[in-house]
Amino acid sequence: MKKHILNFSAVFALLMLLSVPGYGMTSRVISDFNKNWTFHLGEIPEAFSPGYKDNSWRKLNLPHDWAIEGEFSKDNPSGCGGGALPGGVGWYRKTFTLDPINKGKKVFVDFDGVYMDAEVWINGTTLGKRPYGYISFRYDLTPYFKFGQKNVIAVRVDNSEQPNSRWYSGCGIYRNVWLTVADPVHVDQWGTYVTTPSVSKDEASIALATQIKNDSKTDVTAELRSLILNNKGLEVKRSVSSVKVVAGKAQEVKQNLELSKPELWTLQNPYLYKAVSQISVDGKVVDQYETPFGIRNFIFDAKKGFILNGVPTKINGVCMHHDLGCLGSAVNTRAIQRQLEILKNMGCNGIRCSHNPPAPELLNLCDRMGFIVMDESFDMWRKKKTAHDYSRYFNEWHERDLTDHILRDRNHPSIFMWSIGNEVLEQWTDANADTLDLQAANLLLNFKRDPKMLAQKGDSMSINSLLTLKLADMVKSLDPTRPITSGCNEPDPNNHLFRSNALDIIGFNYHESYFKDVYKNFPGKPFIVTESISALMTRGYYRMPSDSMYIWPVRWDIPFHDDSYSCSSYDNCHAPWGSTHEDTWRLVKNNDFISGMFIWTGFDYLGEPTPYDWPARSSYFGIVDLAGFPKDIYYMYQSEWTNKDVLHVFPHWNWKLGETVDVWAYYNHADEVELFLNGKSQGVKTKGKDDFHVMWRLKFAPGTIKVVSRKAGKVVLTKEIKTAGAPAQIVMTGDRKRITADGKDLSFVTVEVRDKDGNLCSNADNLINFDLKGAGTIAGVDNGSPISGESFKANFRKAFYGKCLVVIQSTENKGNITLKATSGKLKSNELLINTTK
Ligand code: GAL
Repeated sequence: MKKHILNFSAVFALLMLLSVPGYGMTSRVISDFNKNWTFHLGEIPEAFSPGYKDNSWRKLNLPHDWAIEGEFSKDNPSGCGGGALPGGVGWYRKTFTLDPINKGKKVFVDFDGVYMDAEVWINGTTLGKRPYGYISFRYDLTPYFKFGQKNVIAVRVDNSEQPNSRWYSGCGIYRNVWLTVADPVHVDQWGTYVTTPSVSKDEASIALATQIKNDSKTDVTAELRSLILNNKGLEVKRSVSSVKVVAGKAQEVKQNLELSKPELWTLQNPYLYKAVSQISVDGKVVDQYETPFGIRNFIFDAKKGFILNGVPTKINGVCMHHDLGCLGSAVNTRAIQRQLEILKNMGCNGIRCSHNPPAPELLNLCDRMGFIVMDESFDMWRKKKTAHDYSRYFNEWHERDLTDHILRDRNHPSIFMWSIGNEVLEQWTDANADTLDLQAANLLLNFKRDPKMLAQKGDSMSINSLLTLKLADMVKSLDPTRPITSGCNEPDPNNHLFRSNALDIIGFNYHESYFKDVYKNFPGKPFIVTESISALMTRGYYRMPSDSMYIWPVRWDIPFHDDSYSCSSYDNCHAPWGSTHEDTWRLVKNNDFISGMFIWTGFDYLGEPTPYDWPARSSYFGIVDLAGFPKDIYYMYQSEWTNKDVLHVFPHWNWKLGETVDVWAYYNHADEVELFLNGKSQGVKTKGKDDFHVMWRLKFAPGTIKVVSRKAGKVVLTKEIKTAGAPAQIVMTGDRKRITADGKDLSFVTVEVRDKDGNLCSNADNLINFDLKGAGTIAGVDNGSPISGESFKANFRKAFYGKCLVVIQSTENKGNITLKATSGKLKSNELLINTTK
């Protein structure tokens, strides 16, 4: 019976939908504007001019990052901190036409992000500059546009003044570009705001605020029909309003709906609805705009932590920078999805976009895959961290950038908090010396609070606290539904950000010894560890004894030297401001008032090779290496954060005869584990309460170690590691054998050096050559080594601790791809990938 009713209502909804005039015929056309650009690396001042001949320029499709194609050098101005890859000035141009049938329409170009300081021209006229490399921006091309004729768009990207970042930024139009053709009466840029003021299992209220822009010359009466579609595309609710919109102005329309029995957005079932905003004028649909959204409720509680839909939920999150390893910062949806899949598989449920607005694709994926996102605006405000960073632009641009950031992102159900800054230097108590100088006064000009506050600055409000309040007020005015925090590294309540009382959630980076005082120091405030751990690890490298700690560098500002350029994978190496994974997780796990943490970092990233300097050029902080291969600690989290049966044993079993070796195991769902060396038991071990691993200290003898986990006497899992012989063969495994022939999709191929019996040769560093034939290209190669100077854009790579990676990209032609891997006398291997439309 129930099924019957459901079917009937589905059919009814479909009929309703079909009866909506214009539904399905969009008058707004959004096109992928990434294809057929030309590019030149270097300054050509006249390249903005439509008549400039760019025939000799390189032809490429966006997104594009020219830095990742360059050579590592310690002399590159970004420094090792910025990834030791080149910067400079680059020019992009694109010539295109639009059918004269579009005459009278609006034409907009949308850049999701250009690093950095981008100036855009259309047909020789400058549209403006946008310094912040992580912000999305739109230009209206209409006034200069020639329908039916050639139009030339030129973009100058300037990343020459470096260092301007503490990590690898990439260079160029590294995110997607879109061309939107719309009716003069349309939903404005980021012009919808969908919130759910009250949510229960039985009913949800949905509030829609829609900005209708009238760029025509006459006032219009517009009808706004807002349809709520479920995840099958069927209409479940609608609201219709009529409104007068004055020529040249935007008008906000508010609509409220009640939805019974809503499907809630949860981490396990991130259910997405869609609001479709249709605007009609004189009975004709002139615009249609879609906003995916989710229905969920949440609170951050000072005692109980984060509660999602009534369920206390620890945020087991990681911080991520935006680069995609060997692909650089050029956005690729599949590459981001793969990172998230790997993290999700570990049990991770949260992402902090450190320390800047992310690519929209990341947020879309988090919405669909069920992650808790902390979306962050800035790494610095007025005070600089590197010589040429965003602090240069902050005074002039922060209002616009912050506003655009929030407007762009506020409909994403995965976002649960805003962070207005990471470790901004304005926080420090001794930064109080700041005076209310002219510049600062200007900065606060648009500040809506009582001006008397300014007068009190000496007593209660410093300029930096006022600035915090101003930024928080701005965010709140655009989105009152989410709390605001900031990643602070001064835990003292006198911190100017805390003193402003503008932060809804107290956020610390590190400083574990202060956690216990949060209650006392910040009564009634919820708490989150905005950043934690900063442990250092090289995949495959182990420093013994495993129970001695290596705290590197000795001083944060002095690079550390050690000939190995390697950090131990036993969770026994971390930065002095950090901690071990196990210690921190114990604290977070056992304290309900801690809403969760964002570990520094999920993946290794380019740049910031703490504790080392050149030739190190990428980070050691990741739980997963730069190539996407998990380090051992990944499985500690998997054993704690997932319901999967886990037994992970390390290190490898290739040591010197008689050498003392510590063998660790991470496991769950078992009461005990037993290790056998060549068949002989080395003892049964059990984790104590609050332990996360067990260890055996053994004398190495070649052969096999076997570990068995048992519950109530029954074997749960068994793991064997054998002493590997000499490298004899190459084995390749693609993460996907079939990909889409769209010129974008990827297959990530893991390449392993194995002995004749198939055991991984854990110390192998053989050079592997790749030969690709058919409907694809090699988009990048990597091996996760933080010190490799090899190019990411080559058809060869050395193995690193036995493994390397090839990333294969489809072309737009469907067909087969064969990848052959050879290396001297090793047995070669061939892999077949199929691409389909
Ligand atoms: C933090 C900072 C991060 C990163 C990290 C390395 O203090 O917020 O951006 O630099 O240190 O440990």
